[in-house]
Amino acid sequence: MASPAAFLKDGFREKYGDAAAPRLVRAPGRVNVIGEHTDYNLGFVLPVALQMACYIAVAPSLDGRLRVWSENVRQSREWAVEDLGNLEPAGEWSDYVAGVARELVRAGREVRPSNLFVWSTVPVGSGLSSSAALEVATAMALLDKSAGLSKLDVARLCQRAETDFVGLPCGIMDQYISVFGEDGCAVRIDCRSLEHRAVRLPAGASLVAVNSMVKHELGGSAYRDRVRECHEAVDAIRARLPEVASLRDVSVAQLEACADLMPQLVYRRARHVVTENARVEEFMTASAANDLKRMGEILVASHRSLQYDYEVSCPELDFLVDRAIEMDGVYGARMTGGGFGGCTVNLVRPDAVEPFRWGIARIYRGRGQGYVCSPSAGAGEIS
Ligand code: GLA
Repeated sequence: MASPAAFLKDGFREKYGDAAAPRLVRAPGRVNVIGEHTDYNLGFVLPVALQMACYIAVAPSLDGRLRVWSENVRQSREWAVEDLGNLEPAGEWSDYVAGVARELVRAGREVRPSNLFVWSTVPVGSGLSSSAALEVATAMALLDKSAGLSKLDVARLCQRAETDFVGLPCGIMDQYISVFGEDGCAVRIDCRSLEHRAVRLPAGASLVAVNSMVKHELGGSAYRDRVRECHEAVDAIRARLPEVASLRDVSVAQLEACADLMPQLVYRRARHVVTENARVEEFMTASAANDLKRMGEILVASHRSLQYDYEVSCPELDFLVDRAIEMDGVYGARMTGGGFGGCTVNLVRPDAVEPFRWGIARIYRGRGQGYVCSPSAGAGEIS
């Protein structure tokens, strides 16, 4: 297949009949290794930026409009640039573009009339953050280098597009890793300080994402419920520990000592978050010690916590995890991303990767495509 750059240039020329060379940008999707539903609780996450990415070719338009063509859905949308500050969501793919454009205007940035040609290799609805990739790629396309926004500003602005425009009260993980991904490394992010550190995972294991090919409708509303339940837990804990500002501040022992202050369901939600933060740190320690067996066990413990305490898994994800961990060369597996479908992430011995991919696809009735995840760099221009 042609390179992404050649594909984008040809597509752009065909779509817009513009012979001028467009600028090309790329923003990756992600797979989260561990630290699930901890980001909006200001805790720790350990995602990897993928080679699968959203690409945009962009050039000025001459008619005062911002126009976007999605090569994936084969649809186009457009807005007059003077209207961008007042856009409302339409409940479809273009909201990620419109939301970023609106946030840029609201942040006092000039959005110039432009033609965008969008093409993404991140499978939509797979829990690999195709939406964050589109948001970050849009921001890169609409900002020129002289805009003076820091990388962190870009990640935060894209998160606002999702929370304030699209309406999902997400944390910052997906946009952050799309911006700050590191070639060859996972990235451990502290979602309170917004600092990160690159983590090279042991060479003796590969990450394989397996797509369950389901996306249950429950996702959005359940996500909101979880965010609310976490706030409820914090409010309850503060009655005894007023210094607590988020679940990030709570140890397992403190949570246990406060269990009587909240309903059982809220306690279980909080228990997931508090133990998951601890698991991120444990996973890092095991990784530094090259202890693949322990890393695998921690992944499975994360899955069980998401399955039983946080209740964001689903039968398909549980099935894929349960079958995977019985297979040769699989150290551990868990659901990854928001849940209710999407992907599992599997830690697999490199020589077992191919048999694992075939094996899991066969067990999952020929579906369950496996993607080998090689950590890639974050968003940037390509040529
Ligand atoms: C979604 C959200 C992220 C994060 C994950 C769960 O991907 O966009 O901010 O909360 O779910 O870890």
